[in-house]
Amino acid sequence: MSDRHPLLVDLGGRRVVVIGGGPTATRKVESLLPGGPAIEVVAPELSERLTELEQTGRIVVHHRRWVQSDLDKAWLVVAATGNQDSDGQVAGACERRQVWCVCTSAARLGTAALPATAAGENGIRIAASGGGNPQLAKEIVNSAELLLRLSALPLRRDEMTRARSTDRPSGRAILVGAGPGDPELITLRGLRALAEAEVLIVDRLAPRALWEAASPSVEIIHVGKTAGTHPVPQDQINELIVERSLAGNTVVRLKGGDPFMMGRGAEEALACVTAGVPVEVGPGVTSALAVPAASGIPVTCRGVASSFLVAAAHEGTTPLDEIARSTNAETTLVLIMGARKLRDIAQILVDCGRSPTTPIAVIESGWTPRTSTWRGSLTDVLRSDRQPRAPAIVVIGDVVALHDSLGQLAVPSTLAGHGPRRHTR
Ligand SMILES: C[S@@+](CC[C@H](N)C(=O)[O-])C[C@H]1O[C@@H](n2cnc3c(N)ncnc32)[C@H](O)[C@@H]1O
Repeated sequence: MSDRHPLLVDLGGRRVVVIGGGPTATRKVESLLPGGPAIEVVAPELSERLTELEQTGRIVVHHRRWVQSDLDKAWLVVAATGNQDSDGQVAGACERRQVWCVCTSAARLGTAALPATAAGENGIRIAASGGGNPQLAKEIVNSAELLLRLSALPLRRDEMTRARSTDRPSGRAILVGAGPGDPELITLRGLRALAEAEVLIVDRLAPRALWEAASPSVEIIHVGKTAGTHPVPQDQINELIVERSLAGNTVVRLKGGDPFMMGRGAEEALACVTAGVPVEVGPGVTSALAVPAASGIPVTCRGVASSFLVAAAHEGTTPLDEIARSTNAETTLVLIMGARKLRDIAQILVDCGRSPTTPIAVIESGWTPRTSTWRGSLTDVLRSDRQPRAPAIVVIGDVVALHDSLGQLAVPSTLAGHGPRRHTR
């Protein structure tokens, strides 16, 4: 069987013959009816539903076994006897007559398939078939239909109503937060922006499945930084966004977490505004909240912590001093970029009067298959020579103990850390 080519055919008023009267034949007749064909069913016995359709004149039934001449002048035949040999005979007879045949008991014996379908908007039909898994095809179609109805498919915003203009639109930039680790954490707005992107400027922490799924026509530029190494300096990233936008492209700057949470998104937005480039933001799920959450650590909890404070731990030690002195145990501290400074962090907190028994958690590579959660006290950190691997979130405060009761609250999706390989610049 060669690869099947999708084709939409007009069956209105045309003769379609269904061989068989059981549940499969019934399902196929039901799926064909909206197209308005002249359906003839050939079967010695009929399901209740087919009997009803015969009685209301919606189908014609020949109450007997099929004969070869039943296939004459048919545009389409559905072999649904419930028996593979019989269906195969029907399919063979169709082949000789050059009539398309859907063979329900063994798709490979037929020449056509009836896909799972759903009605989209503006006359669009959604169909899926193949893969030997009709249930999966149905689920794909249903999901697409649902997302379309919710206006949640990542289509260009006005795609459904606008004939595409031939004039080149002026460029713009969209700063999109991809969330941490798992591509499922991107927002619908972020997905829509990805669908619009002509140039994608990508950070190291943006989940790779998101940019690897981009159309081959999208230019992908990596500007990823790792701790201590900055392959593309920030001012050049700003220039790239501005230049590519001014050249008329829709530039999506895809960043891990939220673009405005310690992500230098503000500088990028300001560079656009200064250069007169229209800029939008697609907020993201920040690692500061989502990574502890996945490990069963809510940053606030009635009776345990009523506020939280997010800070960058790599900026030197003085700010952490001040933070420690100006907050108490009711405030959960969430430190990002702190993997390399764990012992310093614990020492500063103890020096500033935090109890050495204060719970602390270090969560590495949240929302990925490599995620790991370590939990102990400030003293434990000072006594060990543990070197967490970046990226990691450090959480300090009594809420950390909730991890013992809640455990892991999220499993990364199968897309986390995966994606098809593609060539990028
Ligand atoms: C430059 S900051 C960017 C933060 C990002 N804008 C956000 O909202 O999550 C990078 C730091 O975020 C934290 N981070 C990001 N993704 C993470 C992940 N999947 N697991 C743990 N920490 C993560 C780490 O502390 C990392 O050093």
